[in-house]
Amino acid sequence: MTRYAAIAGWGKYLPQRVLTNTDLERMVATSDEWIRERTGIAERRLASEGECSSTLAVRAARQALQQADLPAFSLDLIILATSTPDHFFPATACLVQDALGAIHAGAFDLEAACSGFLYALTVGTQLIRGGLCENILVVATETLSRFVNWQDRSTCVLFGDGAGAAVLRATDRRRGLISSTLGAYGAGGELLILPAGGSARPATQQTLDGGQHFIHMKGNQIFRFAVRKMSEAALEVLEKAGLSLEELDLFVPHQANLRIIQAVGQRLNLPEERIFVNLQRYGNMSAATIPIALCEAAESGLLQEGHVVVASAFGAGLTWAGALLIWGRP
Ligand code: UT7
Repeated sequence: MTRYAAIAGWGKYLPQRVLTNTDLERMVATSDEWIRERTGIAERRLASEGECSSTLAVRAARQALQQADLPAFSLDLIILATSTPDHFFPATACLVQDALGAIHAGAFDLEAACSGFLYALTVGTQLIRGGLCENILVVATETLSRFVNWQDRSTCVLFGDGAGAAVLRATDRRRGLISSTLGAYGAGGELLILPAGGSARPATQQTLDGGQHFIHMKGNQIFRFAVRKMSEAALEVLEKAGLSLEELDLFVPHQANLRIIQAVGQRLNLPEERIFVNLQRYGNMSAATIPIALCEAAESGLLQEGHVVVASAFGAGLTWAGALLIWGRP
């Protein structure tokens, strides 16, 4: 009998603090009008002083476990996608494992930037389908606000903090991830980078003074790559699953820029009502964006049992990923 990995529960956590475009107008030379027109973003959430990537992840994970009706000690593995870990080590996944009391679970972090959740979902699904695990928590969490240069208007208006989680469970029902594609173009790494603090350029007073521990991005050079790769990834996973665009119930694109999402929608010839968008409220939360979007689509009834959903993402690396899921519990 074929084994699948259904999403048995999902959860999200958004920090309370809201930063609006009007707030940003007081911080850098920008305007609400520019941000809305060029990105579609109206506001984003920021972690409070006591919060960090692990604490956000724990909130989302608890919700997902509760919904899956699964005690944390039944988890075999935690895969945590993030580009903004609490520390270089230990892995943020281990901090989450401890906080949840998931005493039987292995735990590791996975870094594929904004494509991270789809990479983690693919790895987790295969570990279940291969028979190595029964229950896996896939959680994506970001506190990008800690790595944004709040004096750089070209990046600080874009990002937000949040976490989203999914509990994967083995089942013989054809549910969960059916097909996926993972890609990378390492030659584009310099286009979106946090240059210092790693082994290539350890933190020094000079790197700090030069703002090298903040996000640096050439946004307009990534834009076209994003549109092309997100469209191609969506088509590829449909083809791999033997399904057509007409059979797609909901498209969940990475939420980086409304113009990117609209351009992908045009390429795929998808009507607006079949494209999920929530970036006006949260901005770009990197890896956390897609699980939060899936969560909200399910909460709002847009995703129902048996629905076909395609998600695609792009991000630093550069990376991209696509995933086709059949929604529904084990
Ligand atoms: O998840 C992956 C993360 N990366 C991305 O999502 C990047 C994808 N790229 C984008 O979303 C867009 O390229 C941006 C939103 C980042 C920028 O939009 P754009 O239409 O590509 O603008 P641009 O970078 O070409 O800049 C146009 C102008 C420039 O002024 P000049 O040189 O024409 O005078 C910028 O200095 O807009 C200026 N600008 C701003 N003006 C007001 C850049 N940021 C701002 C700002 N407010 N916040």
